[in-house]
Amino acid sequence: MQAQLDMEGALTARDRVGIQDFVLLDETTEEAFINNLKKRFSNDLIYTYVGTLVVSLNPYKELDIYNRKQMDIYMGVNFFELPPHIYALADNAYHTMLTEYNNHFILISGESGAGKTEASKKILQYYAVSCPSTTLLNTVRDKMLMSNPVLEAFGNAKTLKNDNSSRFGKYMDIQFDSQGDAVGGHILNYLLEKSRVVHQNHGERNFHIFYQLVGGAGDDLLQQLGLERDCQLYNYLTQGECAIVPSINDNNDWKTVKNALQVINIDESHTNHLFSIVASVLHLGNLKFIPDSKGLATLSSSSEELRWVSNLLGVDAQKLHEGFTFRKIEAKNDQILTPFTIDHAIYARDALAKAIYGQTFTWLVKRINESMENTDPSRKTVIGLLDIYGFEVFYVNSFEQFCINYCNEKLQQLFIQLTLKAEQEEYEAEGIEWEPVQFFNNKIICDLVEEKHRGIIAILDEECLRPGDATDLTFLERLEDQMANHPHFVTHKLADKTTRKTLERGDFRLLHYAGEVTYCVVGFLDKNNDLLYRNIKDLMCQSKNAIIQECFSTSDPDNRKRPETVATQFKNSLLKLTEILMAKEAWYIRCLKSNESKQKGQFDEALIRHQVKYLGLMEHLRVRRAGFAYRRKYDVFLQRYKPLCPGTWPHWRGNPADGVEVLVQHLGYLPNEYKMGRTKIFIRHPRTLYATEDAFEKCKHELASRLQAKYKGYKAKGEFKKQKEAATKIETCWRGVQARKEREKRAWAVKVIKQFIKGYMTRGQAKTTDNSEYLAFVRQNFLNRLKQNLPKTVLDKTTWYSPPPVCSETSEMLKKLHYRLMVRKYVRGITPQRKAQFQLKLVTSALFKGKKESYPQSVAQPFVNTRIDEQDINPRVIQMIRNEHIKYSLPVTKYDRNGFKPRPRQLILTQTAAYVVEDAKIKQRVLYTSLKGISVSSLTDGIVVFHITCEDPKQKGDLVMHCDHLFEFLTKLSVIANKQNAIKVVQGSIKIEVQAGKESGVDFSIGQEPMVYKGKNGHLTVVTTRTRAR
Ligand SMILES: Nc1ncnc2c1ncn2[C@@H]1O[C@H](COP(=O)(O)OP(=O)(O)O)[C@@H](O)[C@H]1O
Ligand SMILES: [Mg+2]
Repeated sequence: MQAQLDMEGALTARDRVGIQDFVLLDETTEEAFINNLKKRFSNDLIYTYVGTLVVSLNPYKELDIYNRKQMDIYMGVNFFELPPHIYALADNAYHTMLTEYNNHFILISGESGAGKTEASKKILQYYAVSCPSTTLLNTVRDKMLMSNPVLEAFGNAKTLKNDNSSRFGKYMDIQFDSQGDAVGGHILNYLLEKSRVVHQNHGERNFHIFYQLVGGAGDDLLQQLGLERDCQLYNYLTQGECAIVPSINDNNDWKTVKNALQVINIDESHTNHLFSIVASVLHLGNLKFIPDSKGLATLSSSSEELRWVSNLLGVDAQKLHEGFTFRKIEAKNDQILTPFTIDHAIYARDALAKAIYGQTFTWLVKRINESMENTDPSRKTVIGLLDIYGFEVFYVNSFEQFCINYCNEKLQQLFIQLTLKAEQEEYEAEGIEWEPVQFFNNKIICDLVEEKHRGIIAILDEECLRPGDATDLTFLERLEDQMANHPHFVTHKLADKTTRKTLERGDFRLLHYAGEVTYCVVGFLDKNNDLLYRNIKDLMCQSKNAIIQECFSTSDPDNRKRPETVATQFKNSLLKLTEILMAKEAWYIRCLKSNESKQKGQFDEALIRHQVKYLGLMEHLRVRRAGFAYRRKYDVFLQRYKPLCPGTWPHWRGNPADGVEVLVQHLGYLPNEYKMGRTKIFIRHPRTLYATEDAFEKCKHELASRLQAKYKGYKAKGEFKKQKEAATKIETCWRGVQARKEREKRAWAVKVIKQFIKGYMTRGQAKTTDNSEYLAFVRQNFLNRLKQNLPKTVLDKTTWYSPPPVCSETSEMLKKLHYRLMVRKYVRGITPQRKAQFQLKLVTSALFKGKKESYPQSVAQPFVNTRIDEQDINPRVIQMIRNEHIKYSLPVTKYDRNGFKPRPRQLILTQTAAYVVEDAKIKQRVLYTSLKGISVSSLTDGIVVFHITCEDPKQKGDLVMHCDHLFEFLTKLSVIANKQNAIKVVQGSIKIEVQAGKESGVDFSIGQEPMVYKGKNGHLTVVTTRTRAR
């Protein structure tokens, strides 16, 4: 396919593949036109433009140009940028609808078999794929798509022209919301060719559904409907003698239809009723009548078929039989039953078959519309798709062809009005210079058919309604009277000699825009009347088949007024259709048949030339070429494109035409590219407009971003303001909360303080709540503080926290407790050594406390075991006193008895004696027993005097020593020698006996510096310093 695109895209390939747009042809001759078509057709290029109109030539073969990829290529692309395609037209219509917010329709025309139905289906598929989708919309979309197989099954049939010929007209609106989503659909149906139900020409078939049912339905269903799987058994299916068509697969189509019925919400019970009706038609066709003795109709042989019909339609069999064989005539208050001839009976039977089939078809359209209905009331824009039966000419043409061809005349007239005529009139009205293009206006034919009182339809109606023996032939005579000189009407009687040869007596011929068609008048009156006998109609109203009941009860049974004839109904519905279409923007697809025999690739030049001619394509081309591709009212044009020019943006204050002039000057339009009319600007080439549109698109985005930015700013500001307000509000609230909390706290504090003060003031009085709370607080407070400030040692007597009066007693108790505890702890922590030491210290205290001045200083000095280690004592001495056990030793200064010379000595205390030792010599041994007393001064000196019992003058006298650890020494001595009572603290001088009988003394005085010397009185004089008061 890409190759094909390239092939078309390249201008150099023009010779080979032709021109994409006929407007660009060098010459506007029919020859050139056909040649271009042919070139393209031989390259499988079936679409060509005439401006925005698409000419489509039926290829009769599958082309790979309708796939998803192709759809994507055409989405949102400018019309002329890609090779011609119906997708381009569909897309362009869609986008125009969205941008201009108006309604559109796509008119698909062409004769039967030219490809109209195919084109309309392809466009629908394109929209199904290209429009935005949601789940909800998808169901609407499915319904729209699935309505096709259902309506085709019931409304299409094989004809000689087309194996899938639409035997009804269809106009479908697709509704879009402002976002371009397909949100709903609506179908208008036009005149179904009901006569086909009971009669088919040779080579044609009845409606597809009959063959689908017989061929595709399951055995169960067939049995239920009383049918056999053989089309040949049914009279209504065998007249054309072509039940089997190679291009049609009835079995597959049956499945599709069954599924489609579900999609369009037809439930199982209605589906059953629907098939009952289809089957009942087949049974009706098999009802046979034979003449009785009087030549009147009776049912032949078995009444099996009648039973099936009555069963399937849910009506009484007897009454049904009566309906086929008698006519009920109401005269005054009486009812008269007139029996039928066989012809009448057959007529009544066929009328019923046509009526129920036709009504069922209308019912189906109604149900489809209900299922596709869009319930959102907001405004929608629509794209209408018109696919109506095409112009057709058969060997024998009847009332149906007359209606179909009349319809095509109307559409041609619409096309002329909207394009050729309107266009030229517009140029004139706008004062644009213009060379008029001649074209054939088929209004004259439309008038011939539809004119009031004088047209063919009017005359036909008159014949149908007038009393007396009106027949098809009297109708023909009336026509001949009335139309005698009409250029487009001829009959055997009116014709000249040569023409007469081609006409039967019962024919009339119309010269349609698309060619001559000879109609046979037989059946015109009946078909136009479309009468169903009253008693049968009444019977149908009572049907138990829901669909039949619904269809027939809606037409008021008591309404005695004659219903409108078929032709008039059709005429009116076409009038309405014209109105609907005139209110919308038109897009055209002109379908051409490439050949009559449905052969692929065959280009039947004569056939195509004929179609090109009658479709007015050449005229259309000429108008297009001479004219302008685009026009818009000045104000509309200016409104849309004004952002493109600074002179017109944002506002143009003057007259719109001047504004447009300024705008196009700014855009650089060349003088021959546009014309200024009275109210509109005319632009000659689409490319000029597309360039403008592209520029607008770009500019729109810029504008949009600017607006967006502004808007965002504005929004952000708003948001900020909102947040700020919110913040302030929160802040205020929070502050309020805080303030309230603070107030509560203060109120509480005031209360507590008041209570406290009151409690304080009444603390000494009898117990009240206030003071007891206060006192509790005081107590607790005291205990807390006390806890943190407890004395750490037993000796610390000052730290105790002074209690408030209420706690003084407690405080005392606690103090005692606490000290006891500390003592206890202390005592527990004392070692045996320290205990012994303390015991010694107690002895010291007993001996010296308050007596000797230096005592207090000594208390803190710990005692040691000895002041001289054993190894520092001479081994000989040790040897000598070994048996006595050395208890304590210390260095002393011994004063000689004569002259008091100081001598350093070791003093060793044993179990029994004290030894004065000088190195290895024991200088003196003082037995404790001979130690009379020991004296010390009351001062701070270290003088100790041993008074020794001395009767023997040879013996040494009292021993005077000075030592550093006086208290330790004397305490040890007193304990070892048990001499507590022997130690004396002497006030003043100490008397000593130097020798037996020779006395001296030691004098003590206080001086600046401690000294020991022999005084003038011969005494030892000791000067001590005063102990510093602690
Ligand atoms: N675009 C196409 N591509 C291939 N075959 C087509 C195309 N259009 C039509 N046909 C063939 O022509 C037949 C008739 O087309 P249809 O649309 O039913 O005609 P119309 O509705 O105009 O009577 C189709 O069944 C199909 O075989
Ligand atoms: Mg069709």
